[in-house]
Amino acid sequence: MKLWGGRFTKETNQLVHNFNASLSFDRKFYRQDIEGSIAHVTMLAKQQILTDAERDEIIKGLKGILSDIDNDILDLDNSEHEDIHSFVEAHLIERIGNVGKKLHTGRSRNDQVALDMKLYTRDELKETDALLKDLLETILKIMDENTETYMPGFTHLQKAQPITLAHHMGAYFEMFKRDRSRIADIIKRMNTSPIGSGALAGTTYPLDREYTASLLNFDCATLNSMDSVADRDYLIEMLSAFSTIMMHLSRFCEEFIIWNSNEYRFIELDDAYSTGSSIMPQKKNPDIAELVRGKTGRVYGALVSLLTTMKGLPLAYNKDMQEDKEFTFDAIDTTKGCIKLFTGMLATTHFNKDVMEESAKNGFTNATDVADYLVNHGVPFRDAHGIVGQLVLMCIEKDIPLDKLPLDEYKKICPAFEEDIYEAISIRTCVEKRVTIGAPGKDAMKKVIAIYKDYLK
Ligand code: ARG
Repeated sequence: MKLWGGRFTKETNQLVHNFNASLSFDRKFYRQDIEGSIAHVTMLAKQQILTDAERDEIIKGLKGILSDIDNDILDLDNSEHEDIHSFVEAHLIERIGNVGKKLHTGRSRNDQVALDMKLYTRDELKETDALLKDLLETILKIMDENTETYMPGFTHLQKAQPITLAHHMGAYFEMFKRDRSRIADIIKRMNTSPIGSGALAGTTYPLDREYTASLLNFDCATLNSMDSVADRDYLIEMLSAFSTIMMHLSRFCEEFIIWNSNEYRFIELDDAYSTGSSIMPQKKNPDIAELVRGKTGRVYGALVSLLTTMKGLPLAYNKDMQEDKEFTFDAIDTTKGCIKLFTGMLATTHFNKDVMEESAKNGFTNATDVADYLVNHGVPFRDAHGIVGQLVLMCIEKDIPLDKLPLDEYKKICPAFEEDIYEAISIRTCVEKRVTIGAPGKDAMKKVIAIYKDYLK
């Protein structure tokens, strides 16, 4: 059934139909489409535009359709309907007859699709937030267990200063915490109801748009019917937030791939979260981390695609906007899937703590602390920097770490050094002295962990 056959004298060309149709992808929000219709007819009856009996009959029909789609009784795969809106309406009329033809009173597919997409997105944003919360819980558990697991911190992928695994994980906690707050902002800003805006200019029926909005848990109705049907900002915001989530996951994955390499061996991935090679029997590959890193491009692609689709569109609705769906749905599914997989991989990863600590010891990560030692003994920092540079050079020649250099060698270069230098530059001291908030020292870390626990409550 077509919703618009009246003014046409010819059948639509089959290729045109196929090109125009969106059922193969907008079927994804059949539930939201039906929920929106139920709210709409509830409002129509309250405003006496429909009788209560008509409302009840329509709602019963809609609920039957919903349950039949849920249970695969209604076949969406082989349907010739143009979109999910026509599909539902046609089946309603088929089931309850003429009264079903009253469903579309006081609305258009333009405000209907705007509503459906918002309802769908809002649900998905909430699910994504829940997945991020699981991920944060996994990260926090690792933090809690590893406030004294020492490892090198890097800049330029060169060993820089010693930190702890808890501290390193905490950086990702911050990133995903920000991602959650972005999602909360988006939901807050998008939570206005477009339904009742009609095609673009409102309707002549005495609708109560605020009432429909409250039935669907929106904060209020939108204030401009043109913008209501033409706005896809919230999708762009969501795709931007999801791109950022993927960027964070991708960085995390990259580190896991490096840490899992034969050269680093900081971690061992669980067998259940790694894969083998068809030719090289010794291989255990970090495919999941690589795929998450790789899939980041798809989500960025969806963002750029929608920005480009919306660019230059005149008000109000244009069919271009149907292109808001496929990449967006893919980006949502991809992002959610990646968060879930990554969380599972992280939760099962084994950390080779002794390898990490050994690596922190061998790489002059305590060189800054040697300079700080001299500063505490009255040497100006710039001079201290030069002195430690010479010491490092000497250690490189001897192939030993700074804490293995004999005291007399230290004294040769600067007499300010005393026996307590070794304690001052042990990896443990280097970390535990750093206790300003945000630093890796255990005392600072414990405070932050308490804040995170409170946040996740
Ligand atoms: N499938 C359409 C979309 O996704 C629904 C709105 C159709 N409106 C229209 N005037 N053709 O945008």
